[in-house]
Amino acid sequence: METRPIVGSPLKHDSAEKHVAGEAVYVDDILEPAGTAHACLGLSSIAHGRLLSLDLSAVEAAPGVLAVLTAADIPGENDISSTHKHDEPVFATEAILHHGQPLFAVIAETREQARHAAALAKAEYEEAAPLLDVASARAAGGELVTEPLKLERGDVAAGLAASPRRLNGAMAIGGQDHFYLESQIALAVPGEDGDMLVHSSTQHPSEVQHMVAAVLGVGAHAVTIEVRRMGGGFGGKETQANLFACVAALAARKLGRPVKLRPDRDDDMVITGKRHDFVVDYEIGFDDDGRIHAVDAVYAARCGWNADLSGPVTDRALFHMDNCYFYPAVRARSEPLRTHTVSNTAFRGFGGPQGMVGAERFIEEVAYATGLDPLEVRRRNLYGGEGRLTTPYHQQVEDMIAGEVIDELERDCHYRERQRAIRAFNRESPVIKRGIALTPVKFGISFTATWYNQAGALVHVYTDGTVALNHGGTEMGQGLYQKVAQVVAQAFGIGLDRIRITATTTGKVPNTSATAASSGSDLNGMAALDACETIKQRLVAFAAERWQEAPEAIAFLPGRVRIGAHEIAFVELVKAAYMARVQLSATGFYATPKIHWDRKAGRGHPFYYFAYGAAASEVAIDTLTGEYKVERVDILHDCGNSLNPAIDKGQIEGGFVQGMGWLTTEELVWDEKGRLRTHAPSTYKIPVASDRPRIFNVALLENAPNREHTIHRSKAVGEPPLMLAISVLQALSDAVASVGDHRFCPKLDAPATPERVLDAVERVRALAAATEGAS
Ligand code: MTE
Ligand code: MOS
Repeated sequence: METRPIVGSPLKHDSAEKHVAGEAVYVDDILEPAGTAHACLGLSSIAHGRLLSLDLSAVEAAPGVLAVLTAADIPGENDISSTHKHDEPVFATEAILHHGQPLFAVIAETREQARHAAALAKAEYEEAAPLLDVASARAAGGELVTEPLKLERGDVAAGLAASPRRLNGAMAIGGQDHFYLESQIALAVPGEDGDMLVHSSTQHPSEVQHMVAAVLGVGAHAVTIEVRRMGGGFGGKETQANLFACVAALAARKLGRPVKLRPDRDDDMVITGKRHDFVVDYEIGFDDDGRIHAVDAVYAARCGWNADLSGPVTDRALFHMDNCYFYPAVRARSEPLRTHTVSNTAFRGFGGPQGMVGAERFIEEVAYATGLDPLEVRRRNLYGGEGRLTTPYHQQVEDMIAGEVIDELERDCHYRERQRAIRAFNRESPVIKRGIALTPVKFGISFTATWYNQAGALVHVYTDGTVALNHGGTEMGQGLYQKVAQVVAQAFGIGLDRIRITATTTGKVPNTSATAASSGSDLNGMAALDACETIKQRLVAFAAERWQEAPEAIAFLPGRVRIGAHEIAFVELVKAAYMARVQLSATGFYATPKIHWDRKAGRGHPFYYFAYGAAASEVAIDTLTGEYKVERVDILHDCGNSLNPAIDKGQIEGGFVQGMGWLTTEELVWDEKGRLRTHAPSTYKIPVASDRPRIFNVALLENAPNREHTIHRSKAVGEPPLMLAISVLQALSDAVASVGDHRFCPKLDAPATPERVLDAVERVRALAAATEGAS
């Protein structure tokens, strides 16, 4: 029996052993019910135009084929747009809006038969020129997929005019494929009376439930979505799982048989949306001391063929265009552009990373323009002091600790000494150049769609003292189930072995939000605790009466319950309560307090609190090839009172490495026909074990409880660490700058692939040569 506090212990993930032993059950591992058929999607081979005809006769005649499905087979609505803009058909009917858009599905006895058959379709198109990126979308008039956002504070024109110095520039920031190890998948099992059970790899079971109900033309009560775990989601299964679940359910309905749909990796990458790539155009007013006076910036994003989550993603980019820095006058505008590419969507950080990369570019620009050290410029512009706490969205930064985090990290990783050593090394080393940078993170926690900040839970206590725990959050590897189980175990004073974490299902907890915005443990931990408190109150009332004690004399201690002067085991109390007909099951609910947001006015308090962190990265580049290595990374990150420091460290390491991949080697390439050329690991380079920093020190900020009443004063950790990787981009930039004696801003766009690094080296060398020639 546990006696030390369970919350705050570095316990392993509840499925850790099953993960490594290959025993964890993902959707594809569920034993297939008898009669399971397999579906494959047929995709458009053009990016933009009209579908003139679709001949599926050869598909139907192929071996093993049971049925084909097109839009005409949909009994309900041919729409799965999460924004209700009706801009996302399940199957295209006439308009083709991206290469790889689903036209039909074929269902066969085996997956291989379905895949072979799908290739036999004959489609005729009338092709139109596709708009593929920000530049071409703008050139064609700049159609937007959703309402843009404007944030404004102070008079930016006057601020710029009054600034001693000004500069402007542009930065391109690439997208990113989620590359969850488990690709999208759904298994639909039809039941009686039109019921449908779908095992879906989704972060948002309630939305999948509504989408499946809508395409089937039935009520939500006829559809149950279940998900025990995902093999990674990273935002890519917040809306993108809808298609696969709906097609599997449509096929299961049509055939009266269970149907599984598991695209292969290439199809998954070609069909599904990714992180938005951005172009940031900026003008900055500043002074010779490196202080920013005004910022005016436009954030254009390639949103793809429909709105999806592009509204909230581009909003969140603007919410993070300040990072940790106070801009006395500021204006930021989003430009969510429609393009004929996949529908870009949520991805860890949800637009925040792109906003923050821009902020660090502003700092860098000012540093090179003034000749000041970038870290010094960062420090001079931090939020803090009289009248310097208001964000561009008019929320006060009440919990600002970035300065302390930077100071502590700078000292502990010997930043200054190492920076000096690197400069000395570079003077002696003609080819290999090293670089170092330290960047902070401030990330707003809460969904900016305020109503999403709610959660439910269901807790059963059985008469043997064991507990079944269910909540609306989903497990994607981040350790949410483990954290919430720790909260419940501690609430009852029982061991974790007494808690059974059960699969998330819409049948147990309804109307849930996506597990996203890093808020899973904040929301579901509180909802589960609420359910526990309800049951405990009933137990206390019962015990007080049975043993004639004041309710205050009853306490749940580790492993036992104190009732006045004596103690009994939790299970004994539960048994006695059952015999006295006390209800031992409860629902719980939580809604985040304090938050509000007026999008039209661009004002409010959209975030309950901020999570902070800082990272110092050191790199070495080869100036002849552009290749590089990340030599050392030191991280100090704020998890408040961590619910589980082992899991939180895992989130920090994983988030950092994923961010590093985004900013370095992961490059998405579409050809001029709008075909994604990087749709497999052979061409799309995610970080592998050998890319990890050679030295990787991760520490949690100590004695830093959340000032708000979050679950056990912890802080959300899922997304913020991804943005610590901006230090790698800045370190690469520092290494590049060394070839021009740090006089020219390298303006390294992201991802900083070896090609881009090499380009930047040559650009900076040319600038240096030109000034030498002139002098
Ligand atoms: N960690 C793992 N292992 N796998 C994932 O898919 N998703 C991230 C993050 N960490 C993810 C992950 C994203 S995008 C979010 S929003 C959060 O986890 C969601 O979970 P949480 O709210 O419980 O932190
Ligand atoms: Mo995370 S991008 O909010 O799923």
